[in-house]
Amino acid sequence: MGSLTVRNLPEDVKQRLRMRAAANGRSMEEEVRLLLAEGAAETPAPVKKPAAAKGAEQAAPATHRVLLIIAGGIAAYKSLDLIRRLRERGMAVRVVMTKAAQEFVTPLSAGALAGERVFTDLFDPASEFDVGHIRLARNNDLIVVAPATADLMARMANGHADDLATAVLLATDKPILLAPAMNPRMWGNRATQRNIARLVADGVATVGPNSGEMAESHEAGTGRMAEPLEIVAAAEALLTRTHDKPLAGRRIVITSGPTHEPIDPVRYIANRSSGKQGHAIARAAAAAGARVTLVSGPVELPDPPGVATVHVETAREMLAAVERALPADVGIFAAAVADWSVAQAGAQKLKKDGGGPPQLALVENPDILATIAKLKAKRPRLVIGFAAETEKVIEHAKAKLKRKGSDWIVANDVSAAGGAMGGDNNAVHLIIANGGEVNVESWPTQSKDGVAKALVARIAAALKAAP
Ligand code: CTP
Repeated sequence: MGSLTVRNLPEDVKQRLRMRAAANGRSMEEEVRLLLAEGAAETPAPVKKPAAAKGAEQAAPATHRVLLIIAGGIAAYKSLDLIRRLRERGMAVRVVMTKAAQEFVTPLSAGALAGERVFTDLFDPASEFDVGHIRLARNNDLIVVAPATADLMARMANGHADDLATAVLLATDKPILLAPAMNPRMWGNRATQRNIARLVADGVATVGPNSGEMAESHEAGTGRMAEPLEIVAAAEALLTRTHDKPLAGRRIVITSGPTHEPIDPVRYIANRSSGKQGHAIARAAAAAGARVTLVSGPVELPDPPGVATVHVETAREMLAAVERALPADVGIFAAAVADWSVAQAGAQKLKKDGGGPPQLALVENPDILATIAKLKAKRPRLVIGFAAETEKVIEHAKAKLKRKGSDWIVANDVSAAGGAMGGDNNAVHLIIANGGEVNVESWPTQSKDGVAKALVARIAAALKAAP
C-alpha cells in the first residue's frame, strides 16, 4: 500500500488543509486520514465545529456581534487571544485585517479562531457581492480596532477610506473602541495625540495604551496595547444597553491620584495615593453613560476605557486641566493633591555643598475643590470632595464640607490600619449638605469598584431628583 506525505502536497491544498484542520482542532495528518476515510465511505463525516469556549453555551445564539479590525502592529498577536476571549463571552466575532496586519499574523489563524473567513480587501469580488464593506460596517453591535496603530488612527481622524478597514470605520453607525498600540515615542508624538483627541471628541472610545516594556528590546513607556481581558471589559461596557446608563448625557470631571511637586529636575514631593478610587469612579461613571474627563496625577494605572484622560504632574496643572474641562454637571475631586509646592524648584539638581541640607521654602498650592466649588458661572451642579483622614474622620470631614463649599464629601480613613491608601478596599462615609443640616451615611467596607458604583448610583439619583 502506498504512503502519502502531506509535505509533498501542492501549496494551496496544504493551505486549505491547514485551515480545515485548525477549525476542527485536529492535526493535518489526522484531517487527511479522515478525508480519505470519508471519500472511501462516500458519506462525509460531520465537520466538527470549533469547540465552544469554556463558559459559553454551545447552542446559545451570540449575545453580540463584534467586528474586530486588526491593524499592522506587533501587538496583533494579542488580537488572536482577544478573538478567543470575546467568543468565550458568547460574542460572534468577524475579523477584518489590514494589509500590514497580515505581516504579523495570518488571516488563516484569525479565521480559525473566529470560526469564519477573514475579510482583507476592499475590492474583493467575493466579499463585495456577499458581504460588502457597508454590510460589514453595519451588521455588528460594536467595532473594536486592536491594535489601533498610529497610522490607522491618523487615517480615521481624517476620514480616509482607501482600504477595507478605513472604509468600514467611515461607513459605520456603530460604536467604535480603539486599543492603541505603538512605540512610546509614536504615542507621545503631537500628531498622534492630536489625532486621538479628535477621535475621542468624535465619540470614539479608547482602552489603553498601557505603560511598561515594549515588544522591541530596550523600549519602555506608554504604548503597549491593553491586555485582551481589558479590551473585553471595555467592549462589554460599551455594549451595555442605554437603559443601563443613568448618567447618559451628563458631563463629569474627576481628579485622581497624587500630584508631584518638583524640588529640582530629579526630586519631588509626593504622597502614597494610588489613584485606584478616582479611576474606579471614572470607569463607573463612563459605564453609566457619562462623558467623563479624568484629570490624573502620576499613577501606575491604565487610562479607563471610554474616558478622556488628561495627565498632569502638579497641583497647578491639575487645576488648569479641571478648568479647561468645565462646564460639567458633576465635579468629583478624589485626587490627593499636595498641599504645598517648593517656592523655587531648582533648575538644576541640588548638590550637597558641605553647607548642610537645603532649606526648602514651601508655598501653598491652590485648593482645586474649593476653587471650583466657589465658582459663580461654571460651578458644577454637584461638587463632591474627598476627605482623607487619619483620625476623627467624620468630624474633620464635616468641617471640610463647610470650609471648601462642596455639596458632598466622601470621607475615608487613610490611617495605616484602615488600609485604604494603595489598597483595593475602602470604608467610606458619605457626608451630605442638606440645607442647613449635614447628613452622614456610613457605608460598609467594600472594594473601591463597589464604592465607585454606589457613588455613581447616588449621583444619578440626585441628578434625577433635581433635574
Ligand atoms: N483638594 C484639592 N486641592 C488641594 C487640596 C485638596 O482639590 N490643594 C481636595 C481633595 O481632592 C479632596 C479634598 O480637597 O477632595 C480634601 O483633601 P484632603 O487632602 O483630605 O484635605 P486638605 O485640603 O489637604 O486638608 P487637611 O490637610 O486639613 O486634611
